[in-house]
Amino acid sequence: MDKILVTGGLGFIGSHTVVELQNEGYQVVIIDDLSNSSLAVLDGITSITGIKPVFEKLDLKEKTSVETFFAKHSNIKGVIHFAASKAVGESVQNPLLYYENNINTLVYILKELKKLPESSFIFSSSCTVYGQADEMPITENAPVKLAESPYGNTKQIGEEIIKDTCKISPKLKAIALRYFNPVGSHESAKIGELPIGVPQNLVPFITQTAIGIREQLSVFGDDYPTPDGTCIRDYIHVVDLAKAHVIALKRLLSSKNKTNYETFNLGTGTGSSVLEVIKSFEKVSGTKLNYKIVGRREGDVISAYANTSKANNELGWKSQLTLDDAMSSAWKWEQKVRAK
Ligand code: WQD
Repeated sequence: MDKILVTGGLGFIGSHTVVELQNEGYQVVIIDDLSNSSLAVLDGITSITGIKPVFEKLDLKEKTSVETFFAKHSNIKGVIHFAASKAVGESVQNPLLYYENNINTLVYILKELKKLPESSFIFSSSCTVYGQADEMPITENAPVKLAESPYGNTKQIGEEIIKDTCKISPKLKAIALRYFNPVGSHESAKIGELPIGVPQNLVPFITQTAIGIREQLSVFGDDYPTPDGTCIRDYIHVVDLAKAHVIALKRLLSSKNKTNYETFNLGTGTGSSVLEVIKSFEKVSGTKLNYKIVGRREGDVISAYANTSKANNELGWKSQLTLDDAMSSAWKWEQKVRAK
């Protein structure tokens, strides 16, 4: 079966995607620099699938290391590229770290893929490229707006780099997957979201508050023009998201792609407010969450949820798991991690 490289394969979405690739029989090689993950994730993957992926600790910012890796693994048929820094706030404080880690690494990988007779490339992009879209739900044709952060800019620039490269390299087939808000964990609770330090994202902050690591959740504003005043997002279960990556990869490996650069929105198609997420969590966990309403967070968009018809119709993919499933699995994971 084809050999697939997963960069950032020990990360949150990466590890869940490795599990789904192995479930489909692919041979997986993981590159990770362990800057935002740990080797324990490799054990988690192995304990779920029974197959230990090949792992190489490698800093993709080092061009020669990338060249050496591809020379050693010349029979790689596809690459799913997750490795990147992704904290919006951090990117504002340290833009050059983001441009180096998210852009240079992409260029080095694409240079290697261009040397192959044929290659399939899946890029981890984000709904953040849309900024505050004018219309809901958001389609892939919505205008890419001025990024709200250097992080978001690296995703926009990344898509442009891939598009330009595909234009002159017909044998390079690429898909950019624009994620909405990935949440939840594998049902086994053997892998999940491992935020290092204080979580920036809503769901890990909720579960850490519920388990007592955090004192109280701050809800960033309830004065938005939405039904309950809090921001709306499209929370997609990470397992549904992982399965979409395998489907997108198969599309390229079997040359079913319509052009050699495509983009797909990956969400549930349903928007949920912050208060609705809290209510879902309280329902599935049977706990009352300690939260308070505070001021708005700089850079938050009011509403973002996906029009998923392109992914439904062309990929034949649709999210299966609900917000309650995601909250329940996130809570199970938090309890498991803290029990260690
Ligand atoms: C969701 C909602 C907050 C924390 C994320 C990533 C970004 C990109 C897209 C990958 C917002 C509110 C949050 C808290 C809160 N991912 N919130 N209290 O902002 O949509 O962006 O997904 O590309 O990198 O950051 O997700 O989970 O940070 O916030 O009230 O403690 O929850 O205001 O409305 P966001 P988030």
